[in-house]
Amino acid sequence: MSGEYTPVITLAELPLGSMRAAILGARELVVCHTRDGVFAVDNICTHAYARLCEGRLRGTRLICPLHGASFDVRDGRVLGPPAAVALTSHAVRITAGMVEVASEPGTPTPPRAPA
Ligand code: FES
Repeated sequence: MSGEYTPVITLAELPLGSMRAAILGARELVVCHTRDGVFAVDNICTHAYARLCEGRLRGTRLICPLHGASFDVRDGRVLGPPAAVALTSHAVRITAGMVEVASEPGTPTPPRAPA
């Protein structure tokens, strides 16, 4: 349902600079803790089938382990080839130390409290 959030991981499990795979319904996400906040995007690269959580996170840049495409975790946009299609991004909120992700892609991100 639009506007619903699902807890996926505790903030304590996601130190600054790290990322973790998480399941949201039928989707696999990667949740990333950056200096800009906590963000969630689809975990499967749009170029071919690779799990982005097995790549590297440099600031807000997520780098695919297979061919090196890079994405901005803040909105999923492509930063570097060979991928040409953005990742779906998911609104995130932090509630009582839990990272919660919007169940519906496209849900507006709530005002961001300090993570
Ligand atoms: S599978 Fe990610 S860049 Fe090719």
